[in-house]
Amino acid sequence: MKSGQSIIGSRPVSGVGWLDYFRKWASKYDREVEAYDYDPEKLLKPFVPLIRKRKRGLDVGCGTGKSLEALKTVCDEVVGVEPVEKMALQAEAKGFRVFRMKGEELGRLVEDGVPGRFDLVAFFASIDYMNVELVVAGVEKVLEPGPAGHMPKKEAGLVFLTVEPENEEKVVRAFGERGFRVVKRDTRKAYEGQTYVCLLMNKG
Ligand SMILES: C[S@@+](CC[C@H](N)C(=O)[O-])C[C@H]1O[C@@H](n2cnc3c(N)ncnc32)[C@H](O)[C@@H]1O
Repeated sequence: MKSGQSIIGSRPVSGVGWLDYFRKWASKYDREVEAYDYDPEKLLKPFVPLIRKRKRGLDVGCGTGKSLEALKTVCDEVVGVEPVEKMALQAEAKGFRVFRMKGEELGRLVEDGVPGRFDLVAFFASIDYMNVELVVAGVEKVLEPGPAGHMPKKEAGLVFLTVEPENEEKVVRAFGERGFRVVKRDTRKAYEGQTYVCLLMNKG
């Protein structure tokens, strides 16, 4: 399989149409990614010693809940955000709380009934489909402030994300412009034909 090609064949070339693409994939998603050995917990694993235990994790673009299951291994409480109803319903059937919204709208979470901030915001195989500048602005609203804020360093907010190699520079720049720095970087084979760059970031 060529690099950048989806595990379910052709996918939109331009940035439009992603939500339709995932709507169509939703009912087969778990079966197909499991057949390809996609396991978000494996992507997170090298970062666990640095992340240690967090109180509240937010999984943006949580899909059917596979990445919520991974996030749950390092967080006392997890919440998902997912705009595709058929994906969100599957995550809810696994017992997770999921808010219907795009990653670009995170600032709305508080209005939608999620008070307080998160000390870990995660994007597993999802930020590639989002407008990163809008996403970062929203992350700032929901993430515990960094050590420059009132939080002790160990309680300050972290961002964990996986990104396709060709989008890494854009993503690191967008977060960097808001004062985030990369704490740890790793590359992992997510499944046949796709390697992800995995990044842990905080406000330095
Ligand atoms: C490849 S799936 C990954 C799902 C899940 N995180 C996992 O690891 O199994 C990408 C997910 O991102 C969601 N997504 C796409 N565009 C999005 C956006 N603008 N905001 C939030 N989620 C989005 C899709 O609906 C889909 O559920």
